[in-house]
Amino acid sequence: MAGPGASEVAEMMAGVPYFDGLSDKTRKAIAKEGRVISYEAGRTIVDEGGAGVGFYLVLEGKVEVRKSGRVLATLGKGQFFGEMSVIDGQPRSADVVAVTATQCWVLVSWSFAGLLKGHPEIALPMIKELVKRLRAAQSAPAS
Ligand code: CMP
Repeated sequence: MAGPGASEVAEMMAGVPYFDGLSDKTRKAIAKEGRVISYEAGRTIVDEGGAGVGFYLVLEGKVEVRKSGRVLATLGKGQFFGEMSVIDGQPRSADVVAVTATQCWVLVSWSFAGLLKGHPEIALPMIKELVKRLRAAQSAPAS
């Protein structure tokens, strides 16, 4: 089944903080670098401990980040996951499961590195989001 094309993905990216400062043309070029993948509710997208080269941006739907049966975070439209393994090459730190029908734009690690090198202005809002997640993790009750 055909998913959204690069133009539609670029339009969705226009509403995402990491990409909203870019021109339409740049967003479209970036959108073409990745592919759109759909997941049914209940599907595990990322497996804790597994190897992974994909960075995921949620275009539609909702996912849960789960570790040892605990929900660490719920992420939705415009939010990303999978960046940790893409950045350091280590195994996936948690499961990420689609809780509703979900559509993601997926970028492989070498394209992700190229994206940040070519458009470093994307990095700061991403780092801010990571800091926010770290603060939330620090204030979460110990398991
Ligand atoms: P990665 O380790 O590649 O795969 C699992 C992903 O879950 C991880 O990247 C992050 O994107 C996400 N993740 C892990 N821990 C947390 C957390 N505490 N809060 C939000 N997202 C997380």
